[in-house]
Amino acid sequence: MNHTGRHHRPFREKVHGRPSRTEVNPYVALHEQFGPPVVTAEGALDWTGRWEDCFERTAPLHVEVGSGNGFFLAGMASRHPDRNWLGIEIRYKRVVLCARKLEAAGVRHGRIVRYDAWWLDDLFGPASIDGLYVNHPDPWVKVTDARKRLMGRYFAELASMVLKPGAELRLKSDFAPNLDGLVRGAEGLPLRILGRSADVRRDGLPWDEHDDVTTNYQSKFDRKAAPVHALRIIRDVGPAPTLTAVRQGGLQAPVAGSSSTERPMMGDGD
Ligand SMILES: C[S@@+](CC[C@H](N)C(=O)[O-])C[C@H]1O[C@@H](n2cnc3c(N)ncnc32)[C@H](O)[C@@H]1O
Repeated sequence: MNHTGRHHRPFREKVHGRPSRTEVNPYVALHEQFGPPVVTAEGALDWTGRWEDCFERTAPLHVEVGSGNGFFLAGMASRHPDRNWLGIEIRYKRVVLCARKLEAAGVRHGRIVRYDAWWLDDLFGPASIDGLYVNHPDPWVKVTDARKRLMGRYFAELASMVLKPGAELRLKSDFAPNLDGLVRGAEGLPLRILGRSADVRRDGLPWDEHDDVTTNYQSKFDRKAAPVHALRIIRDVGPAPTLTAVRQGGLQAPVAGSSSTERPMMGDGD
């Protein structure tokens, strides 16, 4: 429990009969010991609604979901020192890698929080984010896994809730269904498509190309000459909607009598 008395979602906790993450994954302890720029899931709840205190300054808040190795987060933070940059990443090892990237870049206005982006509403109040970025979210290619894709109605509702009117959501992905899912999900919400590219190397980005950083995954697709898609969405003026869609992914609420409270659909536990 944190000092506010709230518990974070128990994703990644001990599953009975199996060694805990702490016992098998050295990055669990490493991320706990790191200190700033790392924010643990437990510590994150201290900052809900007051992230400027975590950054120790007031500045526009820009958030990246699924920061991976941190190229984008550290790169954008270096380019925009006037903004507070917060990455959200579920995997312990990648949290640590992000933190090292931020440190290596000499960035003091960047943080990486270990949290599950399906529960974005734990971390942010309505109309509290100035920019939201998602780069190469997990594709969940199989049709039977499609419900696990973050880019869908639920995320569109989350985004329209946490983004300030006029703020943008920018998505890059190698997997077109991720863009389609978000476009469909945005229907009827105060979200407007400003531009879409089916191949950013051929057609360019739907935003200022200087206002971007090539991510680790993006480089992999560039090397294969495979297209990377991009989608630019703006949060229109209007009241923040409430969440009505069903939360399909992320931690499933623990079932009484169940031995597992672990998120069922994430890959390995690094
Ligand atoms: C395909 S990788 C892309 C990494 C990076 N954005 C890039 O473009 O190189 C997807 C990343 O999202 C993270 N991720 C997946 N689901 C997540 C969730 N629900 N919450 C937070 N991070 C998540 C994964 O751990 C992984 O680091």
